[in-house]
Order: sequence, then C-alpha cells, then structure tokens
Amino acid sequence: MKVLVSDSLSNEGLEILKEHFTVDVNTGLSEDELVEKIGAYDALVIRSGTQVTQRVIEAADNLKIVGRAGVGVDNVDVDAATKKGIIVANAPEGNMISAAEHTIGMMMSMSRNIPQANASLKSREWKRSKFMGVEVKGKTLGVIGLGRIGSEVAKRASGLEMNLMGYDPFISEKRAMELGVKLATVNEIAKEADYITVHTPLIKETRNILDDEQFDLMKPGVRVLNCARGGIINEAALVRALESGKVGGAALDVFVEEPPFGSPLLNFDNVIVTPHLGASTQEAQVNVAIDIAKEVVSVLTGGLAKNA
Ligand code: NAD
Ligand code: MLT
Repeated sequence: MKVLVSDSLSNEGLEILKEHFTVDVNTGLSEDELVEKIGAYDALVIRSGTQVTQRVIEAADNLKIVGRAGVGVDNVDVDAATKKGIIVANAPEGNMISAAEHTIGMMMSMSRNIPQANASLKSREWKRSKFMGVEVKGKTLGVIGLGRIGSEVAKRASGLEMNLMGYDPFISEKRAMELGVKLATVNEIAKEADYITVHTPLIKETRNILDDEQFDLMKPGVRVLNCARGGIINEAALVRALESGKVGGAALDVFVEEPPFGSPLLNFDNVIVTPHLGASTQEAQVNVAIDIAKEVVSVLTGGLAKNA
C-alpha cells in the first residue's frame, strides 16, 4: 500500500509508516498537483499546510484515510471525505501541552512586554520605563473552551495564582471545580476578566465568540489571547477595541488568513504575534507524528482509527 505525506512529518512517524508501506514525502503540492497524484495512494498524511478539498477527495479513488498530525481538521473537507467513505483521523493529544505552554508564554510575554523590550534593546536602546509591565498574580483569567488545551492552560494559570473563570457548554460543574474554574457566560467573562484566552475549535458557534458586543463589556486594559484558531476572536472588532484603547494588549498565534501579512493587527505595538507556533516543539511534533502513523497503520491493516 502507498502513503503520501504531503506536509513535513517527524522521522519517528515516517519510520513507523515505512515499516509497513511505501511512503512518498512530497510537500508543497498545489491543489492541482495533489488532485493529479492522490489516486495512487491509500493514505494521505498532512499537517495544516495541505488543503484537502472536495476536488482532492473526488480524485482520491483508493484513499482510505486522511491522517492529520495535529488537532484541527479545518483544512480537510470532512463531509466530502465521509461521503466517500474516507476516514479523517487526527492526533489530538500529542501537542496539547505545547499549545498550553505557548499560551502561558504569550500571556507572560504580553504582561511584561518581553518581545517589544527585546526588539528595543537589540536596536541599541535602553528604555526601562517604557516597558513597565504587570503581574498576573491575583488577576482573573477567563478561559473560553475548557477541553484538552484550555484545561492545561487553567492548571498552569492556577499555579501562577490567577483567579479562573471559564465558559464551555460541554463541561460539567464537577470538572470545572476540579480545575478551580468558576463557570460563567461569555459576557460575564467579558465583564470580569483581566485576561481572556480562547481554546475552542473554530465552528459556527465559536466564530466571533469575542465580538464588538463583548469588547464593549470588557474592562479597560483587558488583555486577550488567541492560540487556537483565527476567527474565534473577531479580528476587525479586536482592531476597533485596540484603536479605542479598550484592549490593552493582545497575544495572537493564529489568524483568519495565514500568514496575516495584510492584517492591521501587525501594526499595533501592544499586539504580540507568533506564526502559528503553538504545536511547534520537538516533543509535540514527535508525538503527533507517532500518533497519526499508528492510526494509518491501524486503518490500512484492517483495524479502527482511535480519533476519527
Ligand atoms: P478540545 O476539543 O479538547 O477542546 C475544545 C473545547 O471547546 C471542548 O471542551 C468543547 O466542549 C469546547 N467548545 C465547543 N464548543 C464551544 C462553544 N460554543 N463555546 C465554548 N467552548 C466550546 O480541543 P483542544 O485540543 O483543546 O484544541 C483547542 C483549539 O486549539 C482548537 O481550535 C485547535 O485547533 C487549536 N490548536 C492550536 C494549536 C496551535 O498551534 N496554535 C495547537 C493545538 C491546537
Ligand atoms: C493543530 O491544530 O494541531 C495546530 O494548529 C498545530 C498544527 O497545525 O500543526
């Protein structure tokens, strides 16, 4: 059987696949190139770079599984795949610690102006008063989405002695209590929190979950974070709230359009950004590569996918 790996994948995952199948690594393919090649393959392994569109699925006459080395399957037309009987599996656990640590790193960097101060000193400036920061201890963090990553963020923020509020329609009071999170509505979080971080999937219900209405309710100087998916926070509303001074800082790892080169968000000194690095650690990439390789082996040898 043949496996196409169309985004970069750690060697640990490739080795597992190669023990069982013929593996072609071919990254950076255009949609047309993928459409032309995909018919020859039984499995396709991707990260976020490859767009598995309806056209790709239609041409995928031998495909049994699309394996996503990571969480989000928003780059796969899951409906088209499901209609064709192609399994879409992801690797949701391997990068959750990395994504949570990145979120905490962004929160601390934003609070202490570390990226701005670093850039300033490297341009041979010594401006200590310009980069006065704030402590997070005793501040309230609102966590929207208390799944794998949101929960890990909550645990770490609890260690930083922050007060925790959270919104997740699918989490029990018991689980929230275990995490030390006071459950609340999105608007209550908007009113009370000093920091708000989003950790939901990007779906109809979560798109623009923080919008003009919520920014209007927020405390002046509130800091917001998005290390989940671009579009969960309405970017245009965030720009308006930054311009009005309502938002004191934003930390963004993800954008509606990536790379976000045309985005006005890049023009604000109090917005810190990273290029979708949440899962970019050695550990996470090895974990997700191994997890997805095992899924592909299981499905192509007649077994089940754990995370389909
Ligand atoms: P998860 O499925 O474990 O958790 C998501 C949570 O969102 C669930 O608890 C779910 O109940 C909750 N949710 C669903 N609908 C909601 C709604 N309307 N309002 C509030 N909460 C809602 O997912 P996860 O692994 O924690 O991932 C969270 C997000 O982080 C995803 O968007 C994922 O793609 C993204 N992610 C980004 C990076 C990165 O590199 N920046 C890395 C990993 C994951
Ligand atoms: C994910 O969904 O797993 C993350 O966004 C990281 C990635 O795209 O690899």
